[in-house]
Amino acid sequence: MEMEKKRIGVLTGGGDCAGLNSAVKWVTKTALDDRLQGARKIQYEVLGIRDGWKGLVKPEGDEDDRAPRICTLTEELVRTWDRYGGTNLGTSRTNPYDPKNNRSNIVLENIERYHLDFLVAIGGEDTLGVAYKLFVEGVKVVGIPKTIDKDLSGTDYTLGFETAVNVITEEIDRLRTTAGSHRRIFVVETMGRHAGWLALEGGESSGAYVILIPEYNFEIEKVNELLVEGRRKGARYEIIVVAEGAKPVGYSEIVREEGVDSFGHETLGGIGEFVAKWISQLTRIDTRSITLSYLQRGGVPCAYDRRMGRYFGIAAVDLIAREDFGRMVSYRNGRITSVPLQEAIGQLNLVDIRTQYDTERYNGRRTILGN
Ligand code: F6P
Repeated sequence: MEMEKKRIGVLTGGGDCAGLNSAVKWVTKTALDDRLQGARKIQYEVLGIRDGWKGLVKPEGDEDDRAPRICTLTEELVRTWDRYGGTNLGTSRTNPYDPKNNRSNIVLENIERYHLDFLVAIGGEDTLGVAYKLFVEGVKVVGIPKTIDKDLSGTDYTLGFETAVNVITEEIDRLRTTAGSHRRIFVVETMGRHAGWLALEGGESSGAYVILIPEYNFEIEKVNELLVEGRRKGARYEIIVVAEGAKPVGYSEIVREEGVDSFGHETLGGIGEFVAKWISQLTRIDTRSITLSYLQRGGVPCAYDRRMGRYFGIAAVDLIAREDFGRMVSYRNGRITSVPLQEAIGQLNLVDIRTQYDTERYNGRRTILGN
């Protein structure tokens, strides 16, 4: 029987995280699966696009490094990928629609040149924002959500988040023994940009005493009161988790570096040290800060990210087979489903203070079912 031949390009964009390789593996395995191809009467070829959107801006490589950015993915090649962190395809924060350097036409030309019938873009709001613009220009694209920040709308899960929460929990377990030995306060800064999910769920998982998130501006005096209260009740040490985007009332976010990237994002960082200094001055308790930084994005994917990468990868190929483009696969109310890309990138998914945060204790909620 004559089979129709189609090409799928797959790329990972934005910050790396755990679970990306699993998603690429399962896009590849599902597309190349003999039985599915027979049932769908389509023979797919899968091409990996290296370094995010840069791979479609400069597929032939850079002037100083001519390594091609388009490669064939086979089942044998991706067989073990789900066990590894980061992204084997590489990534970048290249924005083809950067208003200062719009290269979207080059991307469209290269999609034609490499005969990419379909594109699977794995990323957060920036990468999927580009995917949406390409879809509007006629590209048959589907998205897979990933970001340790878990700030994408339209999905309850984004790849990389659980592994990052595991890292936070493990590192805080380590800090507890040294904090307790010295009777110190430790301020642990997490990533997350403008969303507090990593700090909140990492703090809840590790049993942090105070959790400070961007969605609720904190009073430093109140933090101190809580600390003094804790010591009075006999605590030997305290762990404070602070999201990089958190800020005290009357202050703005602290930035680590001047300038913005090609998507207009500032590089946040420094609030942990700021809070630690303030606490030690006001309480006179020995206080240290630590920034978990890129450790949260590294390491082997936890079981959940391997599994979700698998489900998301399979669902992306389902969307392609159904010719349902311009959508992002999503996890919603316990089910794998899909939403229009536009819904995912419209606005950030932030912590709902009313239902998920205790503004008195600066911590996670203490009643879940309600009274
Ligand atoms: O979006 C993921 C993230 O890790 C954020 O939590 C963090 O603010 C940012 O990326 C860091 O970006 P970069 O990798 O460009 O330093």
